[in-house]
Amino acid sequence: HDGDELPHATKKTMADHLRKFEQLFTLTPQRMRMIVEAFKETLALGLSQPGQIVPMIPTFVFGYPTGQETGEYLAVDLGGTNLRICLVTLQGKGEFEITQSKYRLTEEQKQGDGQQLFDFCAQCLKTFIDTNYVDEDGKSTLSEGQVLPLGFTFSYPCSQERIDHGVLIRWTKGFGAGDTEGRDVAAMFNKSVDDLKIPVKMTALINDTTGTLIASHYVNPRTKIAVIFGTGCNAAYMERVGDIPKIKNLGIDDDAEMAINCEWGAFDSFKHEHLPRTKYDQIVDESSNKVGEQAFEKLISGRYLGEILRLVLCDLIDEGVLFLGQNTYKLETPYVLETAFLSLMESDPTDELLMIIGIFSHFFALDTTLAERQFFKALAKLIGRRAARLSACGIAAIVSKKNYLEEGCSVGADGSLYNKYPHFADRVHEGLQDIFGEKGKNIITHHAEDGSGVGSSIIAAMTKIRKDAGKY
Ligand code: GLC
Repeated sequence: HDGDELPHATKKTMADHLRKFEQLFTLTPQRMRMIVEAFKETLALGLSQPGQIVPMIPTFVFGYPTGQETGEYLAVDLGGTNLRICLVTLQGKGEFEITQSKYRLTEEQKQGDGQQLFDFCAQCLKTFIDTNYVDEDGKSTLSEGQVLPLGFTFSYPCSQERIDHGVLIRWTKGFGAGDTEGRDVAAMFNKSVDDLKIPVKMTALINDTTGTLIASHYVNPRTKIAVIFGTGCNAAYMERVGDIPKIKNLGIDDDAEMAINCEWGAFDSFKHEHLPRTKYDQIVDESSNKVGEQAFEKLISGRYLGEILRLVLCDLIDEGVLFLGQNTYKLETPYVLETAFLSLMESDPTDELLMIIGIFSHFFALDTTLAERQFFKALAKLIGRRAARLSACGIAAIVSKKNYLEEGCSVGADGSLYNKYPHFADRVHEGLQDIFGEKGKNIITHHAEDGSGVGSSIIAAMTKIRKDAGKY
């Protein structure tokens, strides 16, 4: 049908609606500063007592790499969307080489049985070793009894008592594999590896943020904080052991430094006292498999931004503002509007917004007018900007807690949102200046090295060096 003949929303109604959404989704500098204060208190609480909502997990990764870490390591990376197997050769002095294979995880794997998920990881690992450790004649290049060291990047909150152990506190990012929460996932992974007799030894269980902190510092020593903006959102930084009251009893030297995996995605969970949640955010939460949890992450990460926009559009459809006379069923399925679409919408360079025409007609069979497309682009911008400014609040809380503002610091950032969403980094920087004024310019984010692959390997190497020195 011809878009112009259908009853489309008038420019005036859309302008009115846009004003309403601007109010809902815009964060003033004052509001941001209030969030930072609450955030700081939450971080302090997590460090002082075990079992807090934002768990501030001691990772048993002690200090930064020296650059002396060398050798060949395997990394298994179970992220939010993919499983990756990597072979990393650390050449020292910030140099490395990496070979990798990627597998998309199915919904059944994410929701099925936990041990089976690890069996799948082990199966992929075995295939990777069988194809990468062979000579031209197809013979294994591994010597008799050789065991390959491996870092396991498991990017979900796990409480650790040592580096090669971790009890899953809760699944996040839509995962729900049964019989895993409350169990040692390192042991589950090892069981799968043993069952297949794979010649590896998992030496470190790490979070992607911790890996990113270490990998980023390996190549850029000004890095003091690492943040992942991907399917999930989380941060890590280095803390003085003496300033982690809840592990005082372990007898570790107060002046030692240990990486903390904040799990800040859980900030403001359940109580919802501090974050500006709209009714769309509430629907996202209530229809998730973890109601009340990961409140901060649900406003920021790539898993949810598309869904927030979709819910706004569905509301306007219900109000009779959008797509009158058109069949909107395709847009009415949860999670069909992916965050990647928002990226495309915001980056559409054409006056006619041709990419947005394409998205709506191709994926949802809907005709749009130029005014509507401009409206959608503006909505995407509001949602994307809010995510970036909230992220700035989290970074500011760590910066302020650690007094990094004067001397400045580099924040290693990774994840699809940071790497692909237009203007995301600029908006985080702008947010930091709204919070801190001019000095906010001292805090700069940069694209980090692959923490889950390279970082994991460096940590496996650091662990080996410590072990050889009799320190674990
Ligand atoms: C979720 C996970 C966290 C991870 C983050 C980014 O927040 O709970 O462990 O670091 O996603 O992948």
